[in-house]
Amino acid sequence: MFDALPNFWTPVMAAADLADKPVGMVLAGEKIVLFRGKDGPAALLDRCPHRGVALSLGRIAEGQLECPFHGWKFDGKGHCSHIPFNPGLERAGVGALPARELGGLIWVYTGFEATEEPVVPPALLDKRFHLDVLTEEWSAHWTRAMENMLDTPHLPWVHRGTIGSSLWKRMRPDSKMNQEVTETDWGFEDRFQIDDGEGNQINWRRPNGMELFILEKPWGRMRTHAWCVPTTTDHTRMIVATATGFGWLNVFAGLGRGFNRRVLGEDRAVLESSFPVRVPAPDDEQNVPTDKVTLRFRMWYLKNLAEREPPAATPG
Ligand code: FES
Ligand SMILES: [Fe+2]
Repeated sequence: MFDALPNFWTPVMAAADLADKPVGMVLAGEKIVLFRGKDGPAALLDRCPHRGVALSLGRIAEGQLECPFHGWKFDGKGHCSHIPFNPGLERAGVGALPARELGGLIWVYTGFEATEEPVVPPALLDKRFHLDVLTEEWSAHWTRAMENMLDTPHLPWVHRGTIGSSLWKRMRPDSKMNQEVTETDWGFEDRFQIDDGEGNQINWRRPNGMELFILEKPWGRMRTHAWCVPTTTDHTRMIVATATGFGWLNVFAGLGRGFNRRVLGEDRAVLESSFPVRVPAPDDEQNVPTDKVTLRFRMWYLKNLAEREPPAATPG
């Protein structure tokens, strides 16, 4: 199960989008349903054990998920405690996945038993930051999307008209990028600098997260976080959480959403053309020294996950 990304915590959606209706989605090849149960967010396999229909088509009644076909009711642990016309009958029910609400996101564990809690980037838990979450679906393998998120040399090319414009203007033919990578408990940090410009930091949060420090000043801070969540074999749900710490000016933070979507669209336009769909062995592509950050992720993926995953679809 969850062969594309087994036994990890990953955000799957904005917490604000999980309200009084069940939400069905595909996560790493498995259909799941999310809903708010009596004890908080719940995630179950989206297949009724009675006749196999999607529980996500049902409704929530008193903190339980009710199947749309014959009304069996399931709690957040997947236990079925009510079977209409069969009073007193109970069933173990349906597989439940650990789920949490943290940092404005719903997190799900891609396995039945989580041995640890999600590692949440600190800005998402810091009340001084305003959070804005947007999601979109990309026709790309999550590994390509993840590398794109960690790839800094593309900024002045793909984002010439947005976040890369100042770089684009000051770049020279002999410009150099310096990248210093440090391993951490949760992934790695990349401190990068172009020529003698101001340095910046981007982090990889294992397995599928990125954290970019856009602004870190005494008068204001801004960080963007992105997760590349595998859905089907060659599609990815991008979840982008922007944390803005500008004091009372945070009331304007939501205005940045359109800009974020534009930046994401710039990445997407290029990235969806990637071939092969999934990142290949490094020797199958040409690499240069400034690819060392993305290759560090790639080597981890190839060593730990690539073999489990079914072959990616080939574009027709
Ligand atoms: S199919 Fe779900 S209750 Fe019958
Ligand atoms: Fe980009």
